[in-house]
Amino acid sequence: MRKDTILVIGANGQIGSVLTQELRKIYGSSNVIASDIRLPKEKNAPFEQLDILKATDLAKVIDKYKINQIFHLAAILSAKGEKNPKLAWDLNMNSLFNVLEVAKEKAIDKIFFPSSIAVFGSKTPRVSTPQQTILHAETVYGISKVAGESWAEYYHAKFGIDIRSLRYPGIIGHQSLAGGGTTDYAVDIFHKAAQNEDYICFLKKDTRLPMMYMEDAIRATLQLMDAPAEQIKIRSSYNIAGMDFTPAELTLEIQKQLPDFKTVYAPDFRQAIADSWPESIDDTAAQQDWNWAPKYDISSMTKDMLSNLIKRYQQTENIHP
Ligand code: NAD
Ligand code: SER
Repeated sequence: MRKDTILVIGANGQIGSVLTQELRKIYGSSNVIASDIRLPKEKNAPFEQLDILKATDLAKVIDKYKINQIFHLAAILSAKGEKNPKLAWDLNMNSLFNVLEVAKEKAIDKIFFPSSIAVFGSKTPRVSTPQQTILHAETVYGISKVAGESWAEYYHAKFGIDIRSLRYPGIIGHQSLAGGGTTDYAVDIFHKAAQNEDYICFLKKDTRLPMMYMEDAIRATLQLMDAPAEQIKIRSSYNIAGMDFTPAELTLEIQKQLPDFKTVYAPDFRQAIADSWPESIDDTAAQQDWNWAPKYDISSMTKDMLSNLIKRYQQTENIHP
């Protein structure tokens, strides 16, 4: 076991709930402190109810547990953010400032802060989107991630804060539900398929987006955080790629196992967001700097999602919200 003590902020969310479990396997349950503004369903390991916008409360938690690494996941995602832009800006920016400022004052060795494909916009090349390109975000969520990436670079350059970041694509996992993004359809569709129901998709059938399986996303995060500091040459955020597909292609993949499954298309306001995002991502820098390589493609991801969710729904267990 290593001697680090880790704080996960936003630990009850889609990614945070899975990342916390994985960190606990590596560092030991008592060395990974989960925190969120919401209480967890079950509390069988250290948890602090923390509103990350309250800087003094954050400092108290850091002192209480002698935290030296922070994984800061709390945010309002793209679709929810468009419904309340001011709230999204406030949470996404001020939470990051609180984390960066506390790192200046306390002995924080490393911070993880996820960015997103939402930093790109319709003026960015959409196919194999390069690492260094036009960042012209068109959602409040994307704007907050562009600004967040710049602040990460700034705090690293001015104050030596070791903050590391990935531009996650849409993350798909069976362990938890998606929390208000434009890529959520690629999680929701599996829950309907596993319950033998049709799916009404809020994007058009030919909307191609970059995606990644949860296992790969967690592995990329841990690999980035474990890499020696001198290998981290990009201090804004790394492009990472897993797979890319359209809702129609995903439906066909599901139909290989569930031939009666159907998707109906009813695009809503999220279509415009998806249309402004890349179709695929060039992650050469992540491959070269810290040896990134995804393991899952659409076929292996679909098999794993369906086998886990069909089993889960047969057992009628609760699925993490
Ligand atoms: P999520 O919405 O599922 O989880 C966010 C968590 O933050 C929730 O549990 C919420 O209760 C918590 N939270 C909200 N306000 C808070 C506050 N004031 N104080 C403390 N906690 C608060 O999000 P997610 O999908 O798990 O995403 C995690 C991170 O990864 C976010 O920064 C997001 O931008 C980024 N990301 C996610 C995806 C994806 O596909 N899920 C893709 C790209 C980037
Ligand atoms: N999955 C996220 C969203 O759709 C991308 O950051 O908002």
